[in-house]
Amino acid sequence: LPPSPPPPLKFNGTKLVNDRDHPWKPIRKGDIRGPCPGLNTLASHGYLPRDGVATPSQIIEAVQEGFNMASATARFATYAAHLVDGNLVTDLLSIGGKTRRTGVDPPPPAIVGGLNTHSVFEGDSSMTRGDDFFGDNHSFNQTLFDQFVEYSNKYGGGFYNLATATELRHRRIQESIATNPQFDFTSPRFFTAFAESTFPYTFFVDGRISDRATAGLDMTNATLFFRDSKYPLDFWRPPAPTGGTGALQIFSAYPVAAGRNVDGVNTFTPDPTSADFSNICLLYTNFVNKTVKGLYPNPTGVLRRNLIINLGYFYNAFPGGVGECPEQFPYGTL
Ligand code: HEM
Ligand code: MG
Repeated sequence: LPPSPPPPLKFNGTKLVNDRDHPWKPIRKGDIRGPCPGLNTLASHGYLPRDGVATPSQIIEAVQEGFNMASATARFATYAAHLVDGNLVTDLLSIGGKTRRTGVDPPPPAIVGGLNTHSVFEGDSSMTRGDDFFGDNHSFNQTLFDQFVEYSNKYGGGFYNLATATELRHRRIQESIATNPQFDFTSPRFFTAFAESTFPYTFFVDGRISDRATAGLDMTNATLFFRDSKYPLDFWRPPAPTGGTGALQIFSAYPVAAGRNVDGVNTFTPDPTSADFSNICLLYTNFVNKTVKGLYPNPTGVLRRNLIINLGYFYNAFPGGVGECPEQFPYGTL
């Protein structure tokens, strides 16, 4: 049975996380890294299995311990990813590309492709990774990182802070509209894009610094996290559990509808069926009834049982407020 998610941290203050028990090691042949600099760093320091294949529980434990990510955020992101990218029978998820190490695949249309899988969780207009249309949606992209540095210099005095995040998020969306004929900015990517824009100043800034969203992330440390999957020396995690704050502020500076390029570049068209900040509930219901159900139309046996269990863990983590949003049971109950 997929185990219940690990509890919140007992000690949830700041502390040294680049410690003796978690030395950075270079990747070995076969080790997997992917589009998430947070999980890559945790794997390269041994908070996650260094080969890049982990259970949801290991991921929840690691993001809490290593970055003080809040319990609900950690569970929501992890079960969302696991439901669409992981193997629900073996309870294993690749933090990058598809691998046999997650076990025997269920029948298609299931993908079990790891976090690199495009459009179920990973999506367009990332800050330091290219759009899938251009051929690589997961590797560190130096050209994009140069722009990350340029914007940090221009808007954050050399730091990636809330001001930098706001401008860069807008820039990356405009860039994708103008260059990616298949640009898709509908839910869930609509939400993850704004949330992830807050993560560098939230999680990659030392926990002993006080106003972290204003202070921001320096470019030496940004390079370590984004490119090298490496904590800075003497790095301390945030002082309290956090989900990353500021996503709505970043959105509100340059409001954009959820939508996509429908007929080539510069044809961005709102999609009123997509969830957005005015209808957070749809984030949950569409993800369950469209995305997950699309991958698993008719599951049976252990697969069905584990889908039901993981969907329950996912619902319990929903930050939009359980109660406002009725629970969905596309596969019935146990
Ligand atoms: C991006 C998964 C936790 C920082 C991503 C992406 C995925 C992902 C699939 C790619 C989305 C895209 O840009 O297209 C997860 C999962 C987590 C998790 C399943 C489990 C809780 C974290 C944590 C941090 C983090 C704890 C920070 C310490 C980031 C950042 C990006 C990102 C900054 C954006 C990268 C960019 O735009 O270039 N994550 N993540 N994530 N993640 Fe994570
Ligand atoms: Mg992406």
